[in-house]
Amino acid sequence: MEEMRRAAVDDPDQVVRVRVPAKVNLALCVGPLGDDGFHPLGTVFHALNLYDEVVAEKRPSGQISLTLSGDGLDDVPADESNLAWRAARLLADRHGTPDLGVHLHLKKSIPVAGGMAGGSADAAGALLACSVLWDLDTTPDDLHELAAELGSDVPFPLMGGTAIGTGRGDQLVPMLSRGTYHWVLALAHDGLSTPAVFRRFDELQARPDATPTGTAIPDGVAAALAKGDAAALGGALHNDLQAAAVDLRPELGETLRAGLEAGALGAVVSGSGPTCAFLAADEAAAMDLAAALAAVASVRATRRASGPVSGATLIT
Ligand code: C5P
Repeated sequence: MEEMRRAAVDDPDQVVRVRVPAKVNLALCVGPLGDDGFHPLGTVFHALNLYDEVVAEKRPSGQISLTLSGDGLDDVPADESNLAWRAARLLADRHGTPDLGVHLHLKKSIPVAGGMAGGSADAAGALLACSVLWDLDTTPDDLHELAAELGSDVPFPLMGGTAIGTGRGDQLVPMLSRGTYHWVLALAHDGLSTPAVFRRFDELQARPDATPTGTAIPDGVAAALAKGDAAALGGALHNDLQAAAVDLRPELGETLRAGLEAGALGAVVSGSGPTCAFLAADEAAAMDLAAALAAVASVRATRRASGPVSGATLIT
């Protein structure tokens, strides 16, 4: 009913809605810190059917404003420091006119500060929604360029699917992926900051007994995806940031162990964490796994998701 009422009142010249997926990194391979303050990456992004929705409403005379709904919003700013707000501003400055304004509403389902690129997804959604709302003459390449400027993880939610990311993770090439994969996500009680996890990674790598890491993605991931072999993919999941995330939040070790003991095909910290992603054999196995993980003390909540799915999509 609510949907029907909304459809009746929404004028597409005035309101644009975009749905944007979360991501999990099937592989995250990290090289040493560069002079630019970033780490070179080789990563495999995989888009999941866990979405944030960005609603963009036209506003006169250059005003931008933002509201939020969903869980765990205490740590999400609703001002000009929000990445989605910055995305709208950047788009207007580069490709628009000073009179362009928008009210952005972010309906958040992607865990906040979870390593699933929720903030980046919102920025990607804001770029697409505002470019349509303002009827701008922007190409997908234009949006990709702005996305990369906003953050390393912002381009991928525009593209979706499964893709290799290099550079800072922002240079993307789609990857062959067969079949659908069923995931359980175990959310943690507290978030983790991406820069803090990279800093701890540097500290751990500086220890004399550290095994050097690099940007080469293990062959197993691409081979498993090409065959559609979930068991092989489970065994190939890899994250060089995992040790740093577990070092900062030792209870994540307990979460990962519990999921594997409950029958997951593989377990990995998602991105810079603290969300842990578990691959299940099928949907029924994912339901059992989610039930088992929900009882683990270090797990705040679980979500089930499948992928790959499309990138940012207009829904009006
Ligand atoms: O690009 P983004 O703003 O998401 O990055 C946040 C922080 O994460 C950076 O300031 C940097 O400290 C760290 N980072 C990194 N190497 C990357 C991506 C992010 O060190 N490839």
